[in-house]
Amino acid sequence: MNKITAAITAVGSYVPDFVLSNQVLETLVDTNDEWITSRTGIKERRLLKEEGQGTSFMAIKAAQNLLEKANLDPKEIDLVIMATATPDLPVASTGVYVATQIGATNAFAYDLQAACSSFLYGMSTAAAYIASGRYKKVLLIGADKMSSIIDYTDRATCIIFGDGAGAVLFEPNTEGLGLQDEILKSDGIGREFLKIESGGSILPPNEDTVKNKQHFVYQDGKTVFKYAVSGMADVSEQIMQRNNLSQDDVNWLVAHQANRRIIDATANRMGVDESKVLINIQKYGNTTSATLPLVLADFEHKFKKGDNIIFAAFGGGFTWGSIYLKWAY
Ligand code: UT7
Repeated sequence: MNKITAAITAVGSYVPDFVLSNQVLETLVDTNDEWITSRTGIKERRLLKEEGQGTSFMAIKAAQNLLEKANLDPKEIDLVIMATATPDLPVASTGVYVATQIGATNAFAYDLQAACSSFLYGMSTAAAYIASGRYKKVLLIGADKMSSIIDYTDRATCIIFGDGAGAVLFEPNTEGLGLQDEILKSDGIGREFLKIESGGSILPPNEDTVKNKQHFVYQDGKTVFKYAVSGMADVSEQIMQRNNLSQDDVNWLVAHQANRRIIDATANRMGVDESKVLINIQKYGNTTSATLPLVLADFEHKFKKGDNIIFAAFGGGFTWGSIYLKWAY
């Protein structure tokens, strides 16, 4: 029997309607369109404004979009993995709620949190379940409502992040397509540079933490940038070398959309042509767990069966890594 590999067989996505442009941000904080565009590549981002709705709202929509496109009965799904850094509630898994809401009544579900690398790590987890032969249909969703943890008076963070969701289906493949290799890394040195101080077990929320805005994201952007550039470029170059991939063999780079300059540095190190570097950061900003599937959804029409795709991500923690996958349809 041929070896089982884990292939992506369907993609879905959802972004909220509300657009927050650089021009509007200029009225909120001391910034300007020229600075944001040249330093990050971002022009606008989407925000979920619906009262009382959390990350699950977008995750459900992205999953439903996938189910519809793939004409898939949700009862066939074995497992739902919800990659998110902004769960609906601190306790009570968002993935469980999403699975029930989309009608995946035969699946079990859970959340996976690795900051901006949540989706990349989720790909590894989903693929391992498939390659082991244990499950046949694993739905991986990446969704984040970053606007729920961002201080819109802090120009160091509010210009970067946005809300969104994407989903992919992993299924067994016996033609050698799907996930080929992965390099996943983490280093706790990152904890102090990108974090939310309060709301966890070290510092439960109280009046003072709220007054001090410790329930919002804090980022030392310069330091994170430095680590992200070298981290993402290193693993992407390594995975090419390890799999004997030349720059011509790589068809696409699907990188975490945190900063255009970080993506360009990674592409440069890999030596891949600009035309292979997939970018949608200008439309959505950094949607954390949703960046990779949103890129897949936006550029799905360009992919051909057998295309070699390098995924790369870097996020808080620090967490980072690269995955080499052959497109299956
Ligand atoms: O996805 C998870 C991982 N996160 C990341 O990968 C994000 C990594 N970091 C970054 O993308 C960048 O560090 C930022 C986009 C956050 C900031 O860009 P930077 O080029 O590192 O800017 P900086 O913090 O070094 O600041 C440069 C200058 C400073 O002014 P002076 O000291 O040179 O006069 C800042 O005060 O830009 C100023 N500045 C701003 N100006 C206008 C900082 N933020 C802003 C702003 N608008 N929003």
